[in-house]
Amino acid sequence: AIKGFATRAATRTLATLGDQMAKLYLAPPDPWPVYRAIRDRGPVYRSRMGYTAVSSHELCARVLRGPGFGVRDSAGRLTEEQMIPVGSVPSLLELDPPDHGKLRRLVAPAFRPKLINEYRPRIEETTGRLLDKIDGPFDLMSDFATPLPITVISELLGIPEDSRARFADYGKLAGQALDGQLTARQQVDLEKAIAALNDLFSELMAQRRVDPGNDVISVLVQAVDGDKITADELLSTCQLLLIAGFETTVNLIGNAVFHLGRNPAQWALLRERPELAAGAVEETLRYEPPVPITGRVSQTEVELAGERLPADTPVLTMLATANRDSSVYPEPDRFDITREGGPEHFAFSSGVHYCLGAQLARIEGEIALRALAERFPDLRPVGTPVLRPSASIRGFVRFPVEVGVRG
Ligand code: HEM
Repeated sequence: AIKGFATRAATRTLATLGDQMAKLYLAPPDPWPVYRAIRDRGPVYRSRMGYTAVSSHELCARVLRGPGFGVRDSAGRLTEEQMIPVGSVPSLLELDPPDHGKLRRLVAPAFRPKLINEYRPRIEETTGRLLDKIDGPFDLMSDFATPLPITVISELLGIPEDSRARFADYGKLAGQALDGQLTARQQVDLEKAIAALNDLFSELMAQRRVDPGNDVISVLVQAVDGDKITADELLSTCQLLLIAGFETTVNLIGNAVFHLGRNPAQWALLRERPELAAGAVEETLRYEPPVPITGRVSQTEVELAGERLPADTPVLTMLATANRDSSVYPEPDRFDITREGGPEHFAFSSGVHYCLGAQLARIEGEIALRALAERFPDLRPVGTPVLRPSASIRGFVRFPVEVGVRG
């Protein structure tokens, strides 16, 4: 996340002086001109905000996969950009190897493909239930794209229904914190919500210990009992899953409908061949990734495209721009749900931090788009959707749509 580095006034001044990263930090409604300006300034862009940015597919791969880069600097300190407002011990995203690998190996079994695939019927059922309630114009974000991943992640973690509202409030605040947008009052609310969530997860852990189910917490509790993971690590993992699980999939669905709406021929294709929903998800992830930027820090002196970077240089990897690198994707600015070939996009990052929930997100996106195309063949945006004012998450807060005749 890009946040908290400079005051808004200083950022504005830098932006007027032509600093592209400062322009991005001000969260313009359309960041693409800025992404392109960064890319066009050469493979390594140095901002006066203290960041260096890379935007080609090759350099993003190099930085995300290492060696020489990590989430912590040469002294093992976490940079402010890398902090996620979760538990008392570092979460997966805040650890470098070998600590990262130790925790990831314990958490990964809860996300193995077989287990995640078993959620398919439940995701379909939740999707159906949400869409059954719709009988006229609706807000895609609040009526569908947000409740779907919240319900799915709540079920995955085994959160009881009566605790889900609390859980959702925390997720919302934590998401706003990622944008660096919390007021003092919200900061207090966030701290309260974290404490409440800790209690909730602790209760659930105790309960799953005596009565295990096939949810993620039950899998993780077994690792705690085998002394492989501490209760605090489990807690911070669950909190990360919560944020990661619904700050992102929400926007995958919103961004997909937005670009399908702007490309009526692609929407018509999906309507005729709903089995293309998986392709629509993949193309949306490439074309408008919900997490457009992530970052690493150099841990030694490194060379990137002939430029020497000293140790401890924060480097932003422009995932969205790399996803439209014309040297690897033909006609990269064309939205094409039947696109084939080319390397995997970077929407889920790359290297050791490759998104643990990628398969879950893909299944949710596919089921959601397929159901929308089948049920509402005439679905179309009305008015102007409201963008999330954020440089680190790309998506909408409000997106009114009309359904026309039901399928
Ligand atoms: C990591 C994107 C959905 C769990 C990441 C990263 C990205 C990402 C870019 C890596 C960040 C970095 O390298 O600095 C997305 C997108 C999603 C999505 C675009 C939806 C469209 C999910 C879901 C879950 C999840 C549904 C879980 C329920 C995680 C976890 C990590 C992660 C645990 C940390 C992995 C690690 O550090 O080893 N995600 N994510 N994500 N994601 Fe996702």
